[in-house]
Amino acid sequence: MKSKNNKITDCSIINLDKVHTESGNITVLENNKNIPFDIKRVYYLYDVPGGEARGGHAHYELDQYIIAASGSFDIILDDGFSKKKISLNRPNIALHIVPGMWRELENFSSGSIVMVFASEFYDEKDYIRNYNNYLKFKKNEK
Ligand code: TYD
Repeated sequence: MKSKNNKITDCSIINLDKVHTESGNITVLENNKNIPFDIKRVYYLYDVPGGEARGGHAHYELDQYIIAASGSFDIILDDGFSKKKISLNRPNIALHIVPGMWRELENFSSGSIVMVFASEFYDEKDYIRNYNNYLKFKKNEK
């Protein structure tokens, strides 16, 4: 499975274009134009209580673009070998998380909205929710 070998360096930060007008900005995502997969699902996290953490899982197959539609939060990426913290705080910046990355989301500002564009429908079988199982998967023991 390809996602087994994916590394943090396969994830990227994308500066999305902004259509600027005097009355505000618009940012557009279009399948296979400025997002490199077909979007099958959009979901968003909101009303996250202060001090709460989310995520704590990896996916076998799912690609995601994550955007701070409002406010800010941190994403800690972990590929089983190294970790990297990325802060998102602008609606025109996307983080592309490739399959096979463990991620934690934390440090949510009040009123923050985590917008997620996903390449697949929701499927619990695509999740790895146990960190030791994740490490076994990445280190070819599973
Ligand atoms: P989960 O992905 O664990 O949330 P997070 O990574 O933000 O902490 O999902 C939390 C709950 O929501 C879990 O019971 C599954 C459900 N859920 C859906 O039903 N559909 C979805 O598309 C998503 C993302 C979650």
